[in-house]
Amino acid sequence: MPVVAETIIGIRALIAEEKARLVDAGTMSPRVAFVATMGALHAGHMALVKRARKRGEIVVVSIFVNPTQFSPTEDLSRYPRDLAADLATLEGSGTTFVFAPTPEEIYPHATTDTVVSAGRVGGLFEGRTRAGHFDGVLTVVAKLANIIRPDVMVFGQKDAQQAFLVNRMLSDLNFPISLEVVPTVREDDGLALSSRNRFLDERERRAAIVLSHMLEAAGSAADLGIDAVIAAAQSVSMGEPLVTVDYFGVVNPATFLPVDDDYRGPATAIVAARVGATRLIDNEGIYLA
Ligand code: PAF
Repeated sequence: MPVVAETIIGIRALIAEEKARLVDAGTMSPRVAFVATMGALHAGHMALVKRARKRGEIVVVSIFVNPTQFSPTEDLSRYPRDLAADLATLEGSGTTFVFAPTPEEIYPHATTDTVVSAGRVGGLFEGRTRAGHFDGVLTVVAKLANIIRPDVMVFGQKDAQQAFLVNRMLSDLNFPISLEVVPTVREDDGLALSSRNRFLDERERRAAIVLSHMLEAAGSAADLGIDAVIAAAQSVSMGEPLVTVDYFGVVNPATFLPVDDDYRGPATAIVAARVGATRLIDNEGIYLA
């Protein structure tokens, strides 16, 4: 089992001791690779840990359900929390330390007055449905980065808008940290792995595949232009009554803004939909010729 620290002072001491030990053992400058999670770990998270192992001699995984990224309409208490199960999942993964703080450790004054603003892109797509979500994400990621002081942070492509915004924050605020983005891990039928998939019943699980089918259809229509891409995705979603699409869009990966009609080049098709009561997101790279 990885060693667990619940306090900031504790995780910093563990990392410092491990660095000193590695230096004594002959590693000149041990690198810290960090994976931030909210727990409920699955194979998608383990792909992030695997990449982190390649990038750092010390791998830190945080498990913290961050209250400030949940809007008042979202059920923070419903988010799955099972530290023992998460630690069992991390067993043998090469994780050196787990940082599992309490909300009081991270927000000793209940919340924080100083907030990282996710700006314009933070208000689009996920940010439009979930007001303040990305300010909460960036604020906690900045706090965790200052606590752990990693050389590398590893995020998943599954949360493409989050990865984009974290990357921009690291650059805008001059964090000396590089970001790696790992491809989405999918079930055999194409459904992107998500901690929320566990809320789907059997019928919903079958219907949820519509999200990746929409992205496939978008990719197949990409040669015909953006209108054809949107029409192709829409026609797939219309065939599944259990799925209510929240948004489907095509963005420029360099700006995360919707592409213009005359845009040519790599793009990211993004989708969010409710399947029953569960909200899922997915995305896929396409090429607009
Ligand atoms: O992707 C997540 O699990 C969360 O948004 C993160 C990055 C751990 C911040 O709370």
